Amino acid sequence: MLQDMPVSQSDETHAAAPVDITADSPEAHRARRELDPATMRARYRAKGLLEKDLADDPVEQFDRWFHHAAESGLHEPNAMVLSTADARGRPSSRTVLLKQYGTDGFVLFTNYGSRKGREIAENPYVSLLFPWHGIARQVIVTGRATPVGRAETIAYFRSRPHGSKLGCWASEQSSTVASREELDALYAELAARYPEGEDVPAPPQWGGYRVVHETVEFWQGRENRLHDRLRYRRTDTGWTVERLCP
Ligand SMILES: Cc1cc2nc3c(=O)[nH]c(=O)nc-3n(C[C@H](O)[C@H](O)[C@H](O)COP(=O)(O)O)c2cc1C
Repeated sequence: MLQDMPVSQSDETHAAAPVDITADSPEAHRARRELDPATMRARYRAKGLLEKDLADDPVEQFDRWFHHAAESGLHEPNAMVLSTADARGRPSSRTVLLKQYGTDGFVLFTNYGSRKGREIAENPYVSLLFPWHGIARQVIVTGRATPVGRAETIAYFRSRPHGSKLGCWASEQSSTVASREELDALYAELAARYPEGEDVPAPPQWGGYRVVHETVEFWQGRENRLHDRLRYRRTDTGWTVERLCP
């Protein structure tokens, strides 16, 4: 059991609904009305985050917290919300998976022709948010996204399961598709062309982005909403750390 695991609990308890809460019945509608997000409050009692405990380098600090998140049993601790904005500043967000990180940045893989890919081409400034609610922590990285080299993309693509490789070819990510059947038919065609064990090339429109971090904020939930927020900011000479009001 990790020593600094926060205790997070709801102020209100909601008795388990005796009905299928997803159903279209009057009982289910009533049960859903009773689940009011305005009354949901988690209490955080975690040990704090102090300047003296921080690593000198934000990626070293991220590494410590990432390991803690994984060891805490959080589901997909590498899932992060990538926010982008188009040239007019209109934002959009979606979850993606972190696949690699180091002092040179945080790497994810996607379709360059997707909405996010088009927005990054117009405006490379993005944010990555790790929502580690289960341990009352959050990390927010901001920086500039640049495509990774083709060799790096190909090396990662090779490590993916066969079905995921085919899925990348079958899906023109973010474009509209007439039906589920059309998507399944495309996948079936590809599966016939590339049976299991056959080498699948990386699609040209698919690849990685490396987000070179300019700020990295570590948020730790504390009691009475007096959370700790420590933000590393890149300067000409290295990293500076600022404490932000919660
Ligand atoms: C847990 C989770 C992980 C995901 N990981 C990725 C990913 O690594 N790359 C990706 O392109 N999409 C991923 N997606 C799908 C994206 O959230 C999104 O639907 C897709 O990338 C299209 O986004 P866009 O139209 O805004 O470009 C993931 C979704 C979830 C819920």
